[in-house]
Amino acid sequence: MLPARSLLIHDADPVVAHRVAADVDGSVRPSVAALVEDADAVVVATPATERFGLLVAAMTEGLPVFCEKPLAAGLDEARELAEAARRTGARVQVGFHRRFDPDYRRLHQLVGSGAAGRVIMIRGTAFDRQPPDEGYQRTSGDIFTDCLIHDIDAARWIAHDEVVAVQAEAHELPGGPTGGREIGVGAAVLTFSGGAIAVLTASRLNPLGYDHRMEVLGTRLSVAAGLNAMTPLRALQATRLPGTRLNTTDRSSEALTYAGFTERFAAAYRAEMRAFLDMATDGGPSPCSPDDAVRAQEIAATATAATRAGVRTPVTPSRDGALTS
Ligand SMILES: NC(=O)c1ccc[n+]([C@@H]2O[C@H](COP(=O)([O-])OP(=O)(O)OC[C@H]3O[C@@H](n4cnc5c(N)ncnc54)[C@H](O)[C@@H]3O)[C@@H](O)[C@H]2O)c1
Repeated sequence: MLPARSLLIHDADPVVAHRVAADVDGSVRPSVAALVEDADAVVVATPATERFGLLVAAMTEGLPVFCEKPLAAGLDEARELAEAARRTGARVQVGFHRRFDPDYRRLHQLVGSGAAGRVIMIRGTAFDRQPPDEGYQRTSGDIFTDCLIHDIDAARWIAHDEVVAVQAEAHELPGGPTGGREIGVGAAVLTFSGGAIAVLTASRLNPLGYDHRMEVLGTRLSVAAGLNAMTPLRALQATRLPGTRLNTTDRSSEALTYAGFTERFAAAYRAEMRAFLDMATDGGPSPCSPDDAVRAQEIAATATAATRAGVRTPVTPSRDGALTS
């Protein structure tokens, strides 16, 4: 149970508002103004394109706000919101739930305590089972701003270090819609000031299921968060069992994998909301500040720009088959 006395719901679509209120035993408020007037704290989970005014309304009333990621649809708006939070002293927590996943927290601690040694490399996997629907894609931003932004934030948080350079590549899924938007597949290479490299990969399609995890290779430890018996990844046994072959049609293990983000990160979502309510009640610092959110969004936008700038060194096969660049 969350330590909240009552839940007030507002949605631009009244049918949704009433359905959600019935689901959570809450009550509907017909407008943002009515909601903000009656609330002690606000959760904003509209599409990113619809957040700015809601955040300003809550901050102006001096209410603590939880806001889904990214902070805003565009960088300018995100920076403006972060500046408003600083100016008004508003307590704002942004929805980077990986910071509350027990395994990601452990990685953060292992690096922070020095137990992992110096970080050499961070590797992130963000493979969804299926692409989001087209309505979601219209307002969500590209693969860096909508999806890899979680991993960008997690990598900074786990590395305890700042990103100083970005390289990136993104394109559509095979057979996906064209139109030049970096929606389906993306990879970003981040360089940290201490020399560590993070290789963050995302795909909107994984036939075996939802696979989101992060690994750290340090000078004293190599360790993975989110790699367990439910990870939808088949291990080839060919070297151990000569003659065995990967069964590419067997789907029986899928029932054992995470169906999506609500299953994989259930504990993290609960913990992040608890942390928000603690912050709202006790007034402590935000565990995911607007400044952190802006930094992650800046890196995501830089990745988008890098992939569009397309600095790629072509590799051409020579006559004898060897590759030359
Ligand atoms: N942290 C995570 O793991 C995670 C997961 C999923 C979605 N999200 C984020 O949550 C946000 C919402 O995603 P979703 O899939 O729930 O979207 P959705 O479209 O299913 O729901 C958004 C709701 O907001 C309502 N809405 C739109 N404009 C509004 C306005 N001006 N005032 C009040 N209500 C308004 C819509 O009617 C709709 O019911 C997105 O920004 C997404 O990035 C985060």
